[in-house]
Amino acid sequence: MNKKVKSIGILTSGGDCPGLNAAIRGIVKTVMRHNISVIGILDGFTGLVYNRVIQLGSREMIGLLTMGGTILGTSRNKPHKMPAEDGSVRDMTGAAIENYHRLGLDALVCLGGGGTQKNAYRLMQEGNLNIITLPKTIDNDIWGTDVSFGYDTGMTIACEAIDRLHTTASSHQRIMLVDIMGHNAGWLALSAGIAGGADIILIPEIEYKRNKVLDAIVERRNNDRRFTIISVAEGAHTSKDNHKKAALKQTKIDPEFIPHTLPTSEKLASFIEKNLGIETRLTSLGHLQRGGTPTPFDRVISTQLGTMAGELILKGEFGVMVALRNGDCIPLPLEEVAGKKKLVTMDHPLIKTVHRLGISLGI
Ligand code: F6P
Repeated sequence: MNKKVKSIGILTSGGDCPGLNAAIRGIVKTVMRHNISVIGILDGFTGLVYNRVIQLGSREMIGLLTMGGTILGTSRNKPHKMPAEDGSVRDMTGAAIENYHRLGLDALVCLGGGGTQKNAYRLMQEGNLNIITLPKTIDNDIWGTDVSFGYDTGMTIACEAIDRLHTTASSHQRIMLVDIMGHNAGWLALSAGIAGGADIILIPEIEYKRNKVLDAIVERRNNDRRFTIISVAEGAHTSKDNHKKAALKQTKIDPEFIPHTLPTSEKLASFIEKNLGIETRLTSLGHLQRGGTPTPFDRVISTQLGTMAGELILKGEFGVMVALRNGDCIPLPLEEVAGKKKLVTMDHPLIKTVHRLGISLGI
């Protein structure tokens, strides 16, 4: 064991997800057995900048395995773009580094998604700090890990929603769209769509054509399938949507002033109803996919990843994200992970499955 490590900090950053508390528990339980003290940093990097912390011990670990959200609180704030009380946004990296030392930390574990990997890497470089990260997000878009914790729970919730929509869709012979989170990645909509038996799956990685969606619905009706379930990723788009987005980007208008456009799923639902004259309904799952208790699978991998982070701390191995590979945990250099995204590729086994089943991707 590395004798120098006496105290570590833990923070959770970015959107919350089920499994964060289980991962915190895994880290704390592992290092506590070696008399390392653990400080919980509140509300992501904000707590590090403004020195908002709590002590974590065995009492705080009670009930964490099954608890959703994060006991530490979270935010999307970054040290180098930190909102101040007066409403301005400032580079507070210096304050974050200072507080790391003031708190007497020998290492910091950051639990977060793609943005957190980047911010943690940046902080590590600027302050020469001992940092380890863990991959969390329901989106499953973190590069380097087979899966991120939170994804299985998000997928399970989305799949249950599709299952429920099936019975009402078939009773009313309606078209049901279900809008599924995932940011710019289609993992959730794709896997929940397959698991829930969706007839059409639309994901951001594959530009869809609205007429192809109509064709797929009409073909089903011709085969006496009078209802259709469409799994739509929140980031799915047509090529026209994409051109509009690119054109807006060119104008360099402050995103705050860009007029709000309807989500793809909403536009598509009214397009279908208008063109086919079939009753169409949209269900947006939104944050339901991120709330509540983690699935047993997420509890297992959060615990695996958390305890591995603990073990790396004991070994004094820093500057890495703990990734899952073939059921095991491996440390990956943060510089390799930061700034990359894992997206669905056309030759991914799940896409092959979709093709074999004859599910339409709207192309
Ligand atoms: O990254 C997780 C995620 O839930 C995405 O799927 C979604 O696009 C985003 O966060 C929503 O963010 P917020 O909770 O800030 O609205």
